[in-house]
Amino acid sequence: MQNIEILSVGHYVPSKKLTNADLEKIVDTSDEWITTRTGIKERRIAGEHEKTSDLAIKAAEQALCNAKLTASKIELIIVATTSPDSNFPSVACLVQKGIGAKHAVAFDVSAACTGYVYALSVAHQFLLTGMYKNALIIAADRLTTMIDWEDRDTCVLFGDGAGACILAKGRRKGILSEHLESFGEYGELMKVVIPETRHPSKPKHGLGTLPYIRMRGSELFKIAVNSMAECTELAVKKAKIKISDVACIVPHQANDRIIAGVARKLKIPKEKFFINIEKYGNMSAASAAVALYEAVEVGRIRKGDYIVLVAFGAGLVSGAMVIKW
Ligand code: ACO
Repeated sequence: MQNIEILSVGHYVPSKKLTNADLEKIVDTSDEWITTRTGIKERRIAGEHEKTSDLAIKAAEQALCNAKLTASKIELIIVATTSPDSNFPSVACLVQKGIGAKHAVAFDVSAACTGYVYALSVAHQFLLTGMYKNALIIAADRLTTMIDWEDRDTCVLFGDGAGACILAKGRRKGILSEHLESFGEYGELMKVVIPETRHPSKPKHGLGTLPYIRMRGSELFKIAVNSMAECTELAVKKAKIKISDVACIVPHQANDRIIAGVARKLKIPKEKFFINIEKYGNMSAASAAVALYEAVEVGRIRKGDYIVLVAFGAGLVSGAMVIKW
């Protein structure tokens, strides 16, 4: 079996912050409710002219720089996103052009908040077969363009950002296992309402700008806890290690209480999880990617550590990956 390792990581978050205090002026909410129910204190909002591809390009450039690689050497680019600049060209092709990766094959993967794990897993297979020697994986989302700013159930949760990494054949063990799951039957629990599906019996939102996100949060909450715990357990088992061997778990950051629930289910201390939700909220696919970047930056992940990336999102989809760093 070949070793496919993460050579470097990168990230980018927009400079504009939207705090809980700012949201108190927009909807009937409070800093106290948002903090205690979600763990979020503030989130980043992309500028008017800052598209998903712009976020992705900045994260990609940092990952390339950290790997000391030039873009022309990249053979595969996969972008995990559910908020592309437009239906086509893909964000991956925009990134290819933006960074000058002339020799890369580029496409997007759509798996909502689990997009980073799915995209890493797809790239992993291409590298294992030897079809490509390296890959640039980016998770970039700008969900705030799909928020109904009158809906307090959703508008307090999301932010914008991007994270990236370079995968290549390496000497370190790298990716040891992955486990992915999809539950299409629960798709209605979280979806983007588009013009064709707008329901005339909801006049409250009739004047809102479409598309916007609708979510049944408490139902999702339970499935999120169960499936993130299950995926972690199964990926750890496939990697032939024990959960106690894992030094750091980097989860999707949808809600601090979801992460606490996963820790309880796995019977491990919450301190094993890297959490940065207070600064960014839920950045969809970018959440786990930015968290991985920061965990490496602050030394929470060190060479030789076993780590788990785990995520859950609309679809519903979930997945986990075990990596020896
Ligand atoms: N401010 C104040 N009160 C609020 C707010 C708010 N922003 N939002 C909801 N409330 C109220 C509700 O109206 C409700 O009031 P009621 O009891 O009078 O009816 C009360 O708070 C409790 O509402 P719940 O929805 O039961 O609150 P809950 O504790 O479940 O928290 C939340 C809601 C934060 C959305 C949580 O359910 C959650 O995080 N769910 C999972 C989200 C998720 O994982 N999404 C998928 C990933 S995202 C992706 O794929 C892109």
